[in-house]
Amino acid sequence: MLNFAIQTAREAGNVLLEKFGRITSITKKGDINLVTEADLASEALIIERIKSYQPRHAILAEESGEAIVIGGDTKWKWIIDPLDGTTNYAHGYPCFCVTIALEHDGEIVVGVTFDPTRNEMFAAEKGGGATLNSKPISVSAETKLSDSLIVTGFPYNFRDKPNFERAFTEFLLRSRGVRRDGSAAIDMAYVACGRFEGFWEEGLHPWDVAAGKLLIEEAGGTISYYDGSEFSIYSPPICASNGGVHEQMLEVLR
Ligand code: IPD
Ligand code: CA
Ligand code: CA
Repeated sequence: MLNFAIQTAREAGNVLLEKFGRITSITKKGDINLVTEADLASEALIIERIKSYQPRHAILAEESGEAIVIGGDTKWKWIIDPLDGTTNYAHGYPCFCVTIALEHDGEIVVGVTFDPTRNEMFAAEKGGGATLNSKPISVSAETKLSDSLIVTGFPYNFRDKPNFERAFTEFLLRSRGVRRDGSAAIDMAYVACGRFEGFWEEGLHPWDVAAGKLLIEEAGGTISYYDGSEFSIYSPPICASNGGVHEQMLEVLR
């Protein structure tokens, strides 16, 4: 399953790369939420591959609606974001990825995030560790928030979330820096490989975080809700970290 996910993410990433800078069709899903022909082409390819590989597995894919279930075996569910970072992509800003996860009986067992512009394949299998381009990765060993680089995302509906502004200011004051790169899946992959110590965001969807959750857990990190309780990919918000700065992040977010 892991090799299939890796292969499929690479193929879909190449579709994104071929179309990058050449997009002719951009549609608005909401006020500022976009969908391009690349999102659709990448998703069509991934669904096609899954259907021929495991026709009875369920699929939850962003652009095909909240939840489409193909086949009858809902024990196995592929969770797909065919292009995470669509706004970046539409503006020619090279920070986007394909992210694919496989859930079995409610547990993520495979997760891959492929960044085609940097040719970086982040992959994890439950109990098998996490890798970047086939080499093992682990979260950063940092324990001080003041020496940490933190990343977040501005939710599309951030105007309705006043608490975001307060947390953002607090993290700016308490950390070494705060980044906003526009792809939650890449943000989480970067926590897994130690580039960022922590990530928080509200208003995400299961397909944004499913692969990242496994990547971070397999790389030795910690994920929870803002109150420290157990995180589910089906209901944001999320606080993810290297573990060492998790409590300090929760102090800000509580
Ligand atoms: C978005 C990105 C972004 C996050 C948004 C997501 P999309 O996904 O992950 O970083 O801030 O909340 O919706 O729309 O580019 O797939
Ligand atoms: Ca997304
Ligand atoms: Ca997307």
